[in-house]
Amino acid sequence: MHIVANYVQNARDATAIEDIAVDLFYKPYLQKAKGKPDSFLTAISRWTRQPTNGLVIAYEGNDVVGFSMHGPLSAGNRRLYKDAGSDPTLDDREVALIGVRPGLQGNQIGKQLLKATQEEAVSFHAPNLYAVCLEGKAGASYKLFSKQGFGELMTHDGIAYGKPGTIVRKHLA
Ligand SMILES: CC(C)(COP(=O)(O)OP(=O)(O)OC[C@H]1O[C@@H](n2cnc3c(N)ncnc32)[C@H](O)[C@@H]1OP(=O)(O)O)[C@@H](O)C(=O)NCCC(=O)NCCS
Repeated sequence: MHIVANYVQNARDATAIEDIAVDLFYKPYLQKAKGKPDSFLTAISRWTRQPTNGLVIAYEGNDVVGFSMHGPLSAGNRRLYKDAGSDPTLDDREVALIGVRPGLQGNQIGKQLLKATQEEAVSFHAPNLYAVCLEGKAGASYKLFSKQGFGELMTHDGIAYGKPGTIVRKHLA
């Protein structure tokens, strides 16, 4: 497995990332309310083309097995993090989505993606990196983030696709 910190380079990678995102985020959390994933996929595709955003990809051979997207805080999340008691700077960044292909989770891929994401955030001169962990403190993502030094700011019902989410933050050196 190798990690590449880069923007989407070709259509094949973009499609693989979209497939993983649909399986991990759209189907379990959004499909019931929204039907087809078109607007979700359009948002991802637009998001990855913004030069201020960053995309880290995990490959097994030529296959995409996971990805992480990070960027400046969205306006909504900036408010959320303020409500959680923090005072985000304009240079702070957030992990917008991080996911490992179902069936391959639990193999340290997420760990390596998050490490590379932090390195990228440092290269963007971000003082802090934020994330909202799905399923609150019981979820796999909180385990992943807390083991890499992210601290809980707040856990609240309904902030992660209408379910409990835990806001975490790490000060980057
Ligand atoms: C969260 C996710 C990205 C983690 O990736 P992963 O490759 O499965 O995680 P890793 O194997 O790298 O594990 C990283 C650490 O977290 C721990 N961990 C991961 N999942 C865990 C779980 N379900 N229960 C307990 N610990 C867990 C591992 O033990 C490991 O600890 P270590 O650093 O001491 O070895 C992955 O499970 C996923 O895609 N989940 C669905 C989407 C999601 O929730 N994304 C996060 C949105 S914020």
